[in-house]
Amino acid sequence: MLWTLFFGLVAALLRTAAAAAANAVYQDPDTGLIFTSNFQLYKADGRGITFRVAIPDTAQSYTSYDSVIQMVVPNDVGWAGLSWGGSMPRNPLLVAWRGSSNNVVLSSRWASGHVMPQPYTGAEYTLFKAGTKSNSTHWQFTALCKGCTAWESGSSMRYLSPSGGNRLAFAYSPGKPSSVNSPSSSIPIHDVHAYWSHDFAQAANPDFENTVARLTS
Ligand code: HEM
Ligand SMILES: *[C@@H]1O[C@H](CO)[C@@H](O)[C@H](O)[C@H]1NC(C)=O
Repeated sequence: MLWTLFFGLVAALLRTAAAAAANAVYQDPDTGLIFTSNFQLYKADGRGITFRVAIPDTAQSYTSYDSVIQMVVPNDVGWAGLSWGGSMPRNPLLVAWRGSSNNVVLSSRWASGHVMPQPYTGAEYTLFKAGTKSNSTHWQFTALCKGCTAWESGSSMRYLSPSGGNRLAFAYSPGKPSSVNSPSSSIPIHDVHAYWSHDFAQAANPDFENTVARLTS
């Protein structure tokens, strides 16, 4: 079963490699932001989730800077998770799903280990109207994050580099959270997780603050 999934994933990866180049630069017509974009498979048939990141061109190494996350998610996904630190425990996690009126619910979480992540106030998301939409096959959202690029892990600080690649991770579950309208809901465990190196250097945006101010007003 796992081997079948593995070979299927390899075949699908080869098929989609040309269509979805790693760290493609994406100029978003809805928000005006420039993102770097990565597509992650969760099903052997080629279904996957797109993860896009935008940051300010003024972001400095070893500081906390704001970021914008955009995700494009197929409608059959129960919840989709992003790990800013590239592993499950002790870093900012974003869990996203759709509520009862198909609205996007964003939940900021932190896991103390490989156990259900709990609500985390150290990272805060603000959903934009622009860049948040859906159709018969996908939903997507765009949100500002404050607190996703630096955090305290144990006794040391972790910082995401604004000028290179950062290891991110995702997790996928076909099952929905039990209280679908509550960001603090219990969530079922994932079926699939994976890692990639996300390029932040080409995600740099001039005039980031003004663009974000316009998008949140
Ligand atoms: C009820 C919720 C969750 C439970 C019970 C859970 C449990 C686990 C367990 C037991 C593993 C180890 C699997 C193995 O070693 O084969 C694991 C791995 C992993 N999980 Fe979760 N998880 C949950 C939610 C999440 C969320 C929300 C994310 C991301 C946003 C996530 C990301 C990962 C990643 C990336 C791994 C790979 C190992 C690592 O890098 O730490 N998990 N999870
Ligand atoms: C459906 O919406 C997604 C997310 O916005 C988009 O990527 C995709 O191109 C859309 N599909 C069609 C057929 O418009």
